[in-house]
Amino acid sequence: MTRSPNKLIPADFRTVPGLDALAATRVELGSSSDAEAIGIGVHSDGDVPESLGLGRDDLTDAGFTGDTGTSLLLPRHGSPDLVVVGLGPRDDVSSSVLRDAAAGVVRTATRRARIAIRMEAPNAIAPEEAVRALVEGALLARYRYTVLSNVSTHVDLAELTIDVPGAADATDAVEQGVVSARATIVARDLANTPPGHLTATDMGEIAVELGGRFGFEVELFDRQALIDLGCGGLLGVNQGSTEEPRMIKLVYTPSGDPSGHLGLVGKGIMYDSGGISLKPSDPMHLLMKMDMGGAAAVLGAFTALRDAGGDAKVTGWLMCTDNMPSGTAYKLGDVLTARGGTTIEVKNTDAEGRLVMSDALVLANEEGVDAIIDIATLTGAALVSLGAATAPVFGNDQSMVDLVRAASAATDEPVWQLPLEKKYRKQLDSDIADIANLGGPFAGATTAALFLAHFVGTTPWAHLDIAGTMQTEKDDSWRSAGATGFGARLLLESARSFAANR
Ligand code: BES
Ligand code: ZN
Ligand code: ZN
Repeated sequence: MTRSPNKLIPADFRTVPGLDALAATRVELGSSSDAEAIGIGVHSDGDVPESLGLGRDDLTDAGFTGDTGTSLLLPRHGSPDLVVVGLGPRDDVSSSVLRDAAAGVVRTATRRARIAIRMEAPNAIAPEEAVRALVEGALLARYRYTVLSNVSTHVDLAELTIDVPGAADATDAVEQGVVSARATIVARDLANTPPGHLTATDMGEIAVELGGRFGFEVELFDRQALIDLGCGGLLGVNQGSTEEPRMIKLVYTPSGDPSGHLGLVGKGIMYDSGGISLKPSDPMHLLMKMDMGGAAAVLGAFTALRDAGGDAKVTGWLMCTDNMPSGTAYKLGDVLTARGGTTIEVKNTDAEGRLVMSDALVLANEEGVDAIIDIATLTGAALVSLGAATAPVFGNDQSMVDLVRAASAATDEPVWQLPLEKKYRKQLDSDIADIANLGGPFAGATTAALFLAHFVGTTPWAHLDIAGTMQTEKDDSWRSAGATGFGARLLLESARSFAANR
């Protein structure tokens, strides 16, 4: 996929390079004849696998305990490297442990292009589930955004061979692992792309290409179409920009009778300068190219719905614009009119995410979806409250929140429910409009969620604030440094279980 959006960007610039790398990786089951490294899982208790050719004492002498997060590289002249990874106590193994272990193998054998992973699935885990987790962990750990670097020495994965006893027939599990890794990789690529290389217009064109390739429909709404729809939230935020806004509507229709209709809404601020409420130039704000991480996660999930066999109809709204200060920018004190007529007093132009989301939440309701999940890099307060590992989840319906929590556990994209405390709602009251876009100094993630709740109404809804989890400074298991793609697999899994639960 190549584009040349402006004259500073080479005509052959690739916007989703991770898809090319993924397509070039051969993923197979069984034992590899030409692997350069073989990863073997070892528990911290019980027997050491015979295939390792080493005993517990040998490993202990080398300082290897078998604890999770540990690994040992054993180079062998004329033979593939051996990579021993810790699986922790036998009774505690889960698919998350296996995903982490595969990531550990790939990170330890970082210069190797052909890697084999051999691991036993414990009784509690079906061999197919183990295969899938291993594939995901390996593919996601090898991801790196290198397309703009002339000096990168990154080695792509050419071959990944998975050997899980009892999983001889798990080709479908391999495919599912690749498909869900794809969702995350698309989300990461988009969020890692610099803001000058990815405008709202570009995002729309990319969505169209991905829709054609992965089986979903895409409809683009330009400025005039948004004016016609009365999407004053998105238009207001866009006012300071020389770039056009885009609302990108995605529709996935399953092949059989749809089992329910799920709406997904993603914040797509291509760059958040804060607008007139300008952000300072500190390192955190270098990350504001990732302020479209919610939209990227939704688009990533859509690239997997067909191949994951999703049975629910899913409609997505990506609300894309940058947030810039200029002579035409929206101002503090301005009043915007969102789709549906709600008037919003702008008390801070840096609280722009909730403004663009408001139009989409109203449109999702008009579309008659059965439930909504929204995802947004919404508040610094989410990062302050739960850090970079865990995303707050809020909702007006416990069963939707529980569905998201279950999907979170399955994908190891951690969330923690925070209360949608109605007492704070009056902080959003405005003297001159229906609602204001700024709450008080405390519980900022909650007041932002309460603002969204106003537009959601009574539709069952869950809201994910991924401001903290959108990126990691350093490689961390299957999360590679940079944009994490957090939420893409979680949304995919939510869509699957949404259908299954109906
Ligand atoms: N995009 C930011 C939130 C953010 C902060 C994301 C840090 C990722 C990392 C959002 O638009 C924002 O600026 N929120 C303000 C809201 C405030 C003005 C009410 C914030 O959190 O400070
Ligand atoms: Zn902002
Ligand atoms: Zn923002």
